[in-house]
Amino acid sequence: LYRKAQSKELPSFLLLGPSGAGKTSLLTLFANGTSSKTHTSQTPSSALCALPSTIRSTSDRYRSENDTSSQPQFLLLDTPGHGKLRHHALASLTTSTALKGLIYVVDSAALSSSAGLTGAAEYLYDILLLLQKRHTGAKTSKDPQALPVMIAANKQDVFSSLPTQMVKTKLEEEIARVRATRSKGLMDSGVGMEDAGEEEREWLGEYGAEAFGFGQMEEHGVEVVVVGGSVRGEGGEKGDVEGWWGWVGENL
Ligand code: GTP
Ligand code: MG
Repeated sequence: LYRKAQSKELPSFLLLGPSGAGKTSLLTLFANGTSSKTHTSQTPSSALCALPSTIRSTSDRYRSENDTSSQPQFLLLDTPGHGKLRHHALASLTTSTALKGLIYVVDSAALSSSAGLTGAAEYLYDILLLLQKRHTGAKTSKDPQALPVMIAANKQDVFSSLPTQMVKTKLEEEIARVRATRSKGLMDSGVGMEDAGEEEREWLGEYGAEAFGFGQMEEHGVEVVVVGGSVRGEGGEKGDVEGWWGWVGENL
């Protein structure tokens, strides 16, 4: 009975990331096939989406190519990126039971400014540390808490945007910096002195490592990939979202 009730719940993906990254634009594109004008979000929202027939999901790779009668559906959850409204994203992270993965959207052009990069890295650091702690806290061997993360390097259509590989390395370097600062803060506050395990629990990725790489999240049950694309194309045409759809299909 329990199984039945659970399987009825739609699988969902959570959109998060800094303000202006393109989360709501991505939501409208995935849900409606076209992206319309957006305003900065003040509340969370969600939309029902169906996998395009060109994308195969892992669960139905044995289906015939011509059978498009029942494309797998999922719920896409949008959250506001503004710093003061991020509790919505954190709440969705803990309450959504059928969560299949997180899509962290960044504006690839904004990352070339140091403020843009720091903002994107700090929020991502917080999310990854939260996922790491969930994983550490999960006592069952089956580990239902493991969640994949896709960093969507959006706005690749903008001429000043960083290429996808650069988005990855810039974020990794900046997260290493955030990690060093946070760990120093923890030491200064004296928390690390009282409890030796505390510092390790608060350390993102490989404990004590100087450099940070997303690969370090794997041993904490978090698979991170960076996939480039754009919601908008040149001249306002449809952008390049194939890579993102592919990831959704793989994790649906
Ligand atoms: P918050 O709701 O404030 O958290 O922001 P958001 O992440 O939902 O951003 P939103 O989708 O509202 O997009 C912000 C702006 O970026 C809008 O003007 C979009 O039209 C624009 N935008 C989104 N995606 C792209 C893209 O791929 N290329 C370009 N050039 N502009 C984009
Ligand atoms: Mg929005």
